[in-house]
Amino acid sequence: MCGIFAYLNFLTPKKRGEILKTLVNGLKRLEYRGYDSAGVAIDSACSKDMALIKKTGKVALLEEEIENRSKELDMDRIEDIHCGIAHTRWATHGVPSEVNSHPQRSDYAHSFVVVHNGIITNYKEVKVFLQNKGYKFESDTDTEIIAKLIHHFYEQHPNYSFRELVENVVQQLEGAFALCFKSKHFPGECVATRRGSPLLVGIKTKTRLATDHIPILYGKDDDPQTPTDADTNSEHRPHGRADYPVLPRSESTSEFEPLEDKQVEYFFASDASAIIEHTNRVIYFEDDDVAAIKNGALSIHRLRRLYDDPHSREIHTLKMELQQIMKGNYDYFMQKEIFEQPESVINTMRGRVNFETKTVTLGGIKDYIPEIKRCRRLMLIGCGTSYHSAIATRQLLEELTELPVMVELASDFLDRTTPVFRDDVCFFISQSGETADTLMALRYCKQRGALIIGITNTVGSSICRESHCGVHINAGPEIGVASTKAYTSQFISLVMFALVMSEDRLSLAGRREEIIEGLKNLQQQIRAVLQLDDKVKELAQDLYNKKSLLIMGRGFNFATCLEGALKVKELTYMHSEGIMAGELKHGPLALVDEDMPVMMIIMRDPVYTKCVNALQQVTARQGRPVIICEENDDETKAYGHRCLEIPRTVDCLQGILTVIPMQLLSFHIAVLRGCNVDCPRNLAKSVTVE
Ligand code: G6P
Repeated sequence: MCGIFAYLNFLTPKKRGEILKTLVNGLKRLEYRGYDSAGVAIDSACSKDMALIKKTGKVALLEEEIENRSKELDMDRIEDIHCGIAHTRWATHGVPSEVNSHPQRSDYAHSFVVVHNGIITNYKEVKVFLQNKGYKFESDTDTEIIAKLIHHFYEQHPNYSFRELVENVVQQLEGAFALCFKSKHFPGECVATRRGSPLLVGIKTKTRLATDHIPILYGKDDDPQTPTDADTNSEHRPHGRADYPVLPRSESTSEFEPLEDKQVEYFFASDASAIIEHTNRVIYFEDDDVAAIKNGALSIHRLRRLYDDPHSREIHTLKMELQQIMKGNYDYFMQKEIFEQPESVINTMRGRVNFETKTVTLGGIKDYIPEIKRCRRLMLIGCGTSYHSAIATRQLLEELTELPVMVELASDFLDRTTPVFRDDVCFFISQSGETADTLMALRYCKQRGALIIGITNTVGSSICRESHCGVHINAGPEIGVASTKAYTSQFISLVMFALVMSEDRLSLAGRREEIIEGLKNLQQQIRAVLQLDDKVKELAQDLYNKKSLLIMGRGFNFATCLEGALKVKELTYMHSEGIMAGELKHGPLALVDEDMPVMMIIMRDPVYTKCVNALQQVTARQGRPVIICEENDDETKAYGHRCLEIPRTVDCLQGILTVIPMQLLSFHIAVLRGCNVDCPRNLAKSVTVE
């Protein structure tokens, strides 16, 4: 949900053209987070002012605009020290437009500019305060108050450092945010902070840094404190007072410990994929960290130190490879990600499933297994595709753990203020690890004492960090907004968990062996399903100009119906519905006639006969369903409809194979309809707002 990118080069001479290219490329990598408008701010070429370039639409349009203005921007001039900030937006407050896009500015003179990811919930109150002080607003965004508020503090306290000004601003903000600031009063400096939205910084030096840690500097005294009500910041709000009280000054120049390598480049970004082409050395910020760069040195500051706060932030080495975030020979990221599944499922199982000894080890949760086995119930919580992976594996979890399993949409779970107890085990499933609703649900359950297990694809994400333990699904970066390979890897991760939970159950030994054997064959079976691509493309030709598509199934394949329909909706903007075949006669059958496109998933599993009943009910109403069935299932094929045949696997894994034709189908329909496959309208990959 919005992408932030900032680039600061210190004593590393760069042409202005290169700086802009770095900024725009960073935005392109983050475009999946939002893509309705974009902007950059760099120093002006000829004065002490700033150049703000903003454009409605995708980053490519911003790039064009920069190209058009290249003369005025003086692309060849070299900057030894420079800070630029950039943003790609997913509109929350105000329509996509140039004036609403970021960076937002404090005034026409561009004293301060800011890029923001998230939502400021108290922006109206701050806006009124600032309007009373004479500030005129130009945009409909919540972000503009941030730029103006820092200006207000600066006017009052011109001797404060950039970092102190930002600290005063964030004291007044409620909601979720990641922010990057630039100011013409503090040239060559950048200040960034976060609360509830992801942010990290990449550090590039000529020689490898000797240190793996950056110390954290704490405000007030350095004595650890227990959290108090004051930590909610409420004491600092004006509540009818004439002005915001400001924090006392604390900075001394020694705070900024220069790195041993003086020539340094910093890259702030919402996620690591924007940084990996420059450096693999990153620091993930925590909520309320204020990171400032001054004279080429990075300092991380926190206002107060609580008991469990660390003394430093670690510099991590990213394992991601650049080629993982490139399209390679594919036209679309989504297409590449669908075709990566034979490898991604293996990566999910690597080092975990031993096919010889028929054992499964999940290192990230191993120590918690005894506690999990004693729990009262399992709760699986997620949004979108991640939620569907929970539906897909619920039946197996019930079977192998014999525990009650609740599957919840994070937003609904929170709306209901669902009772949660200390002896509950709660799984938070999220590709990005940043989805706001899932993260809020996690915090809700954690407060109530439940054990928190994260199932994520993003190392270092908020859900990862805030879980007690977890499983990285290791599917590799997923860039297409519509999730594909993350789904099959989440599915397998939950199956592996069910296997771990049942390892000492003799009565289940046969079932476990059958599933492990099934996992072993998955790679080659997924390859076989992908061979259907041409056939699916032909089917897409027949469906792409229809208005609707119903997808029916039950049992282990119901999740495929929901996930298939979600893919169709997201990518093609066609109406589509996943229907539980058992519910057909309770309503959906009324939709069926000879014109309604229907797909049915009919596997040789325990609900086969019931599925055939549903098929007959549909054909009796002149429906002509396309069937996804097992290879060589002549009985089902004899019903005389069009069929997509897929290899047989054990019932509980069949959903991994049945979903792939649906992924391919939605992809081909989207291409035929001329839709933007990787960036569907109105959507974003990482939804960091509630
Ligand atoms: C967004 C994406 C979906 C995704 C959902 C949950 O809506 O467009 O593809 O399934 O968020 O995301 P998560 O990162 O938590 O799995």
